[in-house]
Amino acid sequence: MKAAYGQVNVLHGIDFSVNEGEVVVVLGANGAGKTTTLRSISAMRLVTVQGSVKVSGTETVGRNPAEVVRLGVAHVPQGRGTFPELSVEDNLHSGAYVVRNRAQIQEDVERYFEMFPVLRERRDQLAGSLSGGEQQMLAVSRALMSRPRLLLLDEPSLGLAPLIVEQLFETLSQINRDTGMTMLVVEQNAQLALSIANRAYVLEAGQIVLSGEAEAMKTDEAVRQAYLGY
Ligand SMILES: Nc1ncnc2c1ncn2[C@@H]1O[C@H](COP(=O)(O)OP(=O)(O)OP(=O)(O)O)[C@@H](O)[C@H]1O
Ligand SMILES: [Mg+2]
Repeated sequence: MKAAYGQVNVLHGIDFSVNEGEVVVVLGANGAGKTTTLRSISAMRLVTVQGSVKVSGTETVGRNPAEVVRLGVAHVPQGRGTFPELSVEDNLHSGAYVVRNRAQIQEDVERYFEMFPVLRERRDQLAGSLSGGEQQMLAVSRALMSRPRLLLLDEPSLGLAPLIVEQLFETLSQINRDTGMTMLVVEQNAQLALSIANRAYVLEAGQIVLSGEAEAMKTDEAVRQAYLGY
């Protein structure tokens, strides 16, 4: 798959897969093309994709974002992903618009209120007036509410306090274990992301330069120096 913004090529032919039930992490420096990779999967209009991207065997290149959502893909974009004009609670419910089972929706709202008590306290507040970290908690919860087959997370730890980040990753891992939800995660906190992942890819200037089991990546010399900082 290749991806471009107008005439500017950003992804120069990358080939990767995420198997059902896996957690896969994408690592890479700023500008490497991580966000563009997720945008290509969810068929965002600003990216022109060449080649093939398949979700559960269905080609998504040439489709529109809504069709990809219907394939069961939920995307939490970098640094946003809420409706600012809706309350916290309405944001959560809007995430579940494809879910028919009311009991399940209620159960999920409870789960995320439990996980992020501040969201329960602010359930009637407009999302746009939440702090950055609170909005991030809401964005991730909102995406999970749709019970996607494939969850795309673009730097979910952005703006969250360390303790909340750990809690978030623990919850993601638990959801993956309990429900088999497939996750593709872009994350700067490589250590934490690798700890819940099965596999990882490293992107450099629009190309995959390294891939492998998460465990092996943790001890890879190049990964350690560039992304783990020890
Ligand atoms: N809308 C856009 N129009 C033009 N170029 C873009 C656009 N979005 C991103 N780019 C360019 O594409 C390249 C890859 O950007 P991308 O956002 O995918 O990087 P990234 O790996 O997610 O980086 P970061 O870690 O900073 O989020 C960058 O050089 C960026 O300037
Ligand atoms: Mg990015």
